[in-house]
Amino acid sequence: MAVTPTPTIRENTRIAHDICRMRVEGVPRGEPGQFFMLRAGAGMEPFLSRPISICDATAAETVFVYRTVGRGTERLSALRCGDALSVGLPLGNGFPLCAGEAVLIGGGLGVAPLLYLAKRLRQIGVYTCVYTGYNDETFLQAEYEEAAGELHAKNGGYITDMVDFSRPATYYACGPAPMLRAAARKAREAGARLYVSMESRMACGTGACLGCSIPTADGNRRVCKDGPVFDAAAVFFEDRV
Ligand SMILES: Cc1cc2nc3c(=O)[nH]c(=O)nc-3n(C[C@H](O)[C@H](O)[C@H](O)COP(=O)(O)OP(=O)(O)OC[C@H]3O[C@@H](n4cnc5c(N)ncnc54)[C@H](O)[C@@H]3O)c2cc1C
Ligand code: FES
Repeated sequence: MAVTPTPTIRENTRIAHDICRMRVEGVPRGEPGQFFMLRAGAGMEPFLSRPISICDATAAETVFVYRTVGRGTERLSALRCGDALSVGLPLGNGFPLCAGEAVLIGGGLGVAPLLYLAKRLRQIGVYTCVYTGYNDETFLQAEYEEAAGELHAKNGGYITDMVDFSRPATYYACGPAPMLRAAARKAREAGARLYVSMESRMACGTGACLGCSIPTADGNRRVCKDGPVFDAAAVFFEDRV
């Protein structure tokens, strides 16, 4: 009988002022753009697990990069190797993979899930041009130097101002809502196909409570189950930011 391995934390270190990287073994391998509902410890505090995207994954380990902003992520950051971690299964739809050329636009913590996408696209022979935007400290730049065909980084200002939306490419964006809205507008004007990874406060993470729903051209859609990745052309950003 197959035995499900227990998640084992191999590393949980600060890689920037308020940003941590956690490497965990014994986690089912997810796809780029998917996320896990994480909770520190074996108990129920905080009651709700927190959604954190997959930053990288191999058959052996899954990597999360997260910012400590409140109770849930503070508790995650206090975990040490060997401490208990509630992980569950990979959730959400993930990024659709393209052929040819891809442009990836990450803002802030949005650079984390796009790293796994950049690596996967490179594996299948897609040329990637990556834009990373930060407000203060940079992180994951060394990893992107290796994974990206082309890398453009910006500290301060709007990363979307740097992006050429006229390339014959598929575009992917992850980051704060105003950045996604700007990217969606520019992609629409240029006639480019853009996929955005949306954020919403989550409770169940599995599609049951409807708490994470966002308005789209197809009606209200659950970020946890129908997303988090959506075709930007279908998202009603104006109703959210
Ligand atoms: C699909 C998905 C993937 C995510 N991936 C990552 C990731 O890879 N790395 C990462 O650092 N964060 C990620 N997040 C955001 C992360 O889930 C929140 O920062 C976390 O839940 C905050 O929990 P907390 O208990 O620490 O803070 P709380 O005490 O719950 O909140 C602290 C502050 O953060 C704000 N906040 C909390 N959750 C969100 C949210 N979802 N969107 C915007 N603001 C929020 C609150 O309004 C409050 O101001 C993701 C969110 C989603 C929906
Ligand atoms: S968090 Fe419950 S439906 Fe998405």
